[in-house]
Amino acid sequence: MTTAPATRSDRDDEFLADWSVHSGFGAVEGTNGVDRQAASAADGQQRRWFAELLEEHGFTVHRDAIGNQFGMLELVPGAPYVLTGSHMDSQPTAGRFDGAYGVMSSAHACFAVADELRADPSKAKYNLAVVNWFNEEGSRFKPSMMGSNVFTGKTELETALATSDPHGVTVAEALDAIGERGDFTAPEIAAYAEIHVQQGRSMEEDGVTIGLVNATWAAHKYEFRVTGKQAHSGSTLMSDRRDALLGAARLVVAARDLVEEFDAGALHTACGELNVYPNSPVVVASEVGLLLDLRSASAEVIAAAHDSLMTTVAKVREEVGVEIDIVAEHSWEQNPYSEDGVELARSAAEDLGLASARVMTVAGHDSTNMKDSVPTVMLFVPSVGGVSHSLQEFTKDEDLVSGLHHLTEVVRRLAGG
Ligand code: GLV
Ligand code: MN
Ligand code: MN
Ligand code: MN
Repeated sequence: MTTAPATRSDRDDEFLADWSVHSGFGAVEGTNGVDRQAASAADGQQRRWFAELLEEHGFTVHRDAIGNQFGMLELVPGAPYVLTGSHMDSQPTAGRFDGAYGVMSSAHACFAVADELRADPSKAKYNLAVVNWFNEEGSRFKPSMMGSNVFTGKTELETALATSDPHGVTVAEALDAIGERGDFTAPEIAAYAEIHVQQGRSMEEDGVTIGLVNATWAAHKYEFRVTGKQAHSGSTLMSDRRDALLGAARLVVAARDLVEEFDAGALHTACGELNVYPNSPVVVASEVGLLLDLRSASAEVIAAAHDSLMTTVAKVREEVGVEIDIVAEHSWEQNPYSEDGVELARSAAEDLGLASARVMTVAGHDSTNMKDSVPTVMLFVPSVGGVSHSLQEFTKDEDLVSGLHHLTEVVRRLAGG
C-alpha cells in the first residue's frame, strides 16, 4: 500500500512555519543541521521561544527539577494528562529532526486537539500536556535520556544534577545558567505518545510512512577509563611504555571485531568518544576516557558480547600494561511497547490512509523509559537514507506533515477516551 500525499491545510503550514523558525536555534552555518547540546545557550533560547509558543496557545509552562519543560492544558479539572513530546537537545553536529520534530509536532497535535475539545468539552476525557525532555542525547552530560530517566525514577535526581560536563560544569549549574531548573511535579499521566524520525532506512525502503514501534533493541553502554603512565613519546624505550591510548585503541578495534562473533546484523557496536590526556604531540597518554556501546535485539547476544568484551579487557590490561576501569555503565532492556498502543496507532494510520508497519527501534528514546511506567505509543516517520546524528539528516516535508496528522489522531483518541 502506498500513502496518498497529504493535503496541506493552514494548520500544516503553521506547523511548517514554526518548524522552520525552530530549526534556526543552534543552526550550524552553511548546513541544514544544528548544534544544540543540553543546557547550551542555544538550548536556552529555543526553550524560551517554545515556552512563548505554548503560552500563545493557552498552555501553562513549567520546568521540573531536572529541566524537563512541560506545557500543560487543563480541560477536565483534576483528570490525568495525555503527555506527548520528545527532546530538543542535539548531538554537537546533528540533524534538525532528531527529537525536535517530535516536540514540535506534539505541540501542534495538542493545539489542534485542544481546539476541538474546547469546542466540544463533552468529548474530553483527559487533559493535554507537551514535554521537551532534558538531555536525551547524553553528549554533554552522560548518560542519555537523563530527563526521562529522572522522571521515571531510573536515575536519582541528585546524581543527575551533580553530573559534570568535560569542563567541570554540573547539570545543576548549566540548568541554572539558562534559567531552566524548576520545581514542578507533574500530575498523573494517563498515556504518553512520541513521534521521531526513524534513524534507519527500512521504512524508506519499504514505502512506509508511519512506523508503529513495537519493541526496542537493548543497549549496554560503558564508560571506560584506561590508565597508563605519562612519558616522552620519542625517548622512552618501547619496552618501558604503558600507553593508555594504545590500550584504548585496542578496545576500539575489539568493539568492531566483536560483531563478527555473532550472526550478521545481530550486534551493533561502536566507540563514539575518546578523551585523551594530556593529548599532546610528544607525550605518551596517561589516561583515556572511552565510551563503548553494545546494541542488540537479543538479550542473550548482549550478555555474550559483554562476556567476550570483559575477556578482551583482561587481555589488553595484561598485554599493554594499563589499568582499565569501568567508571559507569548504562543500559536498557530489549522489551516491547504496549500492544494496545501499537493497535491504536495502526488503526489511526489505516483511517487516515497512511501506510504503516511495525518496526523496532534500534536507538533509544525517552519513550524507552516512559513505556515502562505508562501506556505508551511510539511512532516513526522515515529518514532519507536512514542518516541521523549527522548534519545530513533529512526527512521530507510531506512525511513531517503525515506524521503530524497521525500523531494528532493518536492524541485525539487517547485524550477523548
Ligand atoms: C540514544 O538516543 C541512544 O540510542 O543511545
Ligand atoms: Mn532523538
Ligand atoms: Mn539523537
Ligand atoms: Mn535518541
